Amino acid sequence: MCGIIGFVGNESACSFLLSGLEKLEYRGYDSAGVAIHDGKKINILKAKGKLAELGKKIEAKNLIGNVGIGHMRWATHGKVSEENSHPQSSLNNKIALVHNGIIENYLELKNEFDKNIFVSDTDTEVIAHLIYKYYDWTGILDNFIDAVYFVLKKLKGSYALAIMCEDFKDKIFAVKKDSPLVIGIGENKNFVASDISAFIKYTNEVCYLNDNELAVLDEKNINIFDENKNVLEKKVFSVDKEVNNLGKGNYDSFMLKEIFEQPKVIKNFLIDNSENFLDEINLDEKILDEVERIYLIGCGTAYYACLMGEKILSKLNLFVSAQPASEFRYSDLVLNKKSLVIVVSQSGETADSLAALRIAKKNGAKILSIVNVRESSIARESDFVININAGPEISVASTKAFSLMLSAFYILSCCLYKYFKIISHNEFLDLKNDLKEIPELVEKVLKQHEKIKSVAEKYLLSKNIFYLGRNLDYVIALEGALKLKEIAYLNAQAYPSGELKHGPIALIDESSLIVGIVTQKNIFDKTLGNLEECKARDGKIFVITQYENENSKDAADDIFILPECNQIFIPLLANICLQLFAYYIAKNLGRDIDKPKNLAKSVTVE
Ligand code: AGP
Repeated sequence: MCGIIGFVGNESACSFLLSGLEKLEYRGYDSAGVAIHDGKKINILKAKGKLAELGKKIEAKNLIGNVGIGHMRWATHGKVSEENSHPQSSLNNKIALVHNGIIENYLELKNEFDKNIFVSDTDTEVIAHLIYKYYDWTGILDNFIDAVYFVLKKLKGSYALAIMCEDFKDKIFAVKKDSPLVIGIGENKNFVASDISAFIKYTNEVCYLNDNELAVLDEKNINIFDENKNVLEKKVFSVDKEVNNLGKGNYDSFMLKEIFEQPKVIKNFLIDNSENFLDEINLDEKILDEVERIYLIGCGTAYYACLMGEKILSKLNLFVSAQPASEFRYSDLVLNKKSLVIVVSQSGETADSLAALRIAKKNGAKILSIVNVRESSIARESDFVININAGPEISVASTKAFSLMLSAFYILSCCLYKYFKIISHNEFLDLKNDLKEIPELVEKVLKQHEKIKSVAEKYLLSKNIFYLGRNLDYVIALEGALKLKEIAYLNAQAYPSGELKHGPIALIDESSLIVGIVTQKNIFDKTLGNLEECKARDGKIFVITQYENENSKDAADDIFILPECNQIFIPLLANICLQLFAYYIAKNLGRDIDKPKNLAKSVTVE
């Protein structure tokens, strides 16, 4: 989703802005632009399409100046065009700004102006005109800050803004609400960006802006104010430079690299979190004894991890419900101080998940988050945090983060089963031993990647692709189908296998592929029966199971045998197989695997 970079220093801004935008490319975008102050005025260049197009324009125009802002846009309001890309500006580029988020009342705000002044269809442009209108153009910094705050009070919605004003040739301004912004503190140069990766090459000293805080940056100073213009002392964090500045290594995509990293990151996570897990995350008796309801919320893949959490936590004698965050925030669920809300998010910045967290908190619920980005907004606003520590996940399609979210739910449920006396101490120890085997078993699946590749190559032209499974396997069916949609652009649907004959079976014919996930012993025959029904209608069947017997072989055109593993944990292994399956299909179809069309890594708008 849109990315922001701002630079101010004693060197030419262009190269810093372009290298920052390159690092943000993984977020997904359709156009990009920069604004640079040349000492007299602000110059703006924008281009549709890939960043290279903007690079060419910048080179041709030879933009000079040490202060600038850059943006990559993922269209929300108005089609993909140069006019709609950012920076957006007021008359004569006196004010230029870049924006992430959505201004909900922009049409109403536009009424303050003659319609003819607008050159774009964006919700952003009006902010530039408003600042232009309410700033008195005296060149006094205080007055400019007043004008910005005055305008912010008029805005409804979410924003992260980096702003430039012709009057302040050595400064950039940054302010946010419900959309992330981080400041990078360098030597004779400072940065603002929507994520650290944009400037980590140059500095790993950072501080995070909270909602309604306004930062004024120049080459030497960073001053941060609250709404009443009090100067704030902010905590400075040193982030891990190595971890935040990774390449693809020998892999052809970040997705493949991240798939193959899984044994290592799962192992590290399990080692770090094996002993007194509940104590480590401070989930103490007082809280657990009070809890009556557990809600699990997330979006996309993180939501599917929640569904798995719901299924395995349902053994507890409690009300447990997984909800997509975008639904949760508008539902009338019972929510109070006896509720525990588990928010799951790789980025920790997903707008719907963050909004749902805030609603839950407002209603008195305790918040436990499962996140990958330790310093993210969701982590910072939670009462308890499980950091899955997957390292940066660059590929838009989430892989290793999902496996770690499942691992987090596995450990959490084992501990809660024990705490609520669903299992004995010995059974708990057995489960923990089984958990420890997961990394090695994942490795075993990965070693068979050639086999998965050859199955994938057979089914490139399939139409109507179905992923079927029951109970825990159904969750993996959902995630497997999502992966295929995301990176291969093939229409894959997931169903609980028993649901197929209530309608969707009408679509099955010889061009259909049915991927059956059959890992649960007690329902093995039932799901196989459903696959046979598809076979009888000429569908091609790919079975993923740990049971190789006459029945499964008979049902399958192709079969992948998973290593033996505990029933609760084996769906994670089936999912590794489906990650590779989606990857090889996408690769063979020539898709842009790490940056699929229309998608954004971090969805920071509602
Ligand atoms: C996964 O492959 C997706 N790209 C997407 O569904 C993602 O999981 C979702 O947007 C949630 O992101 P988060 O985990 O960062 O909150």
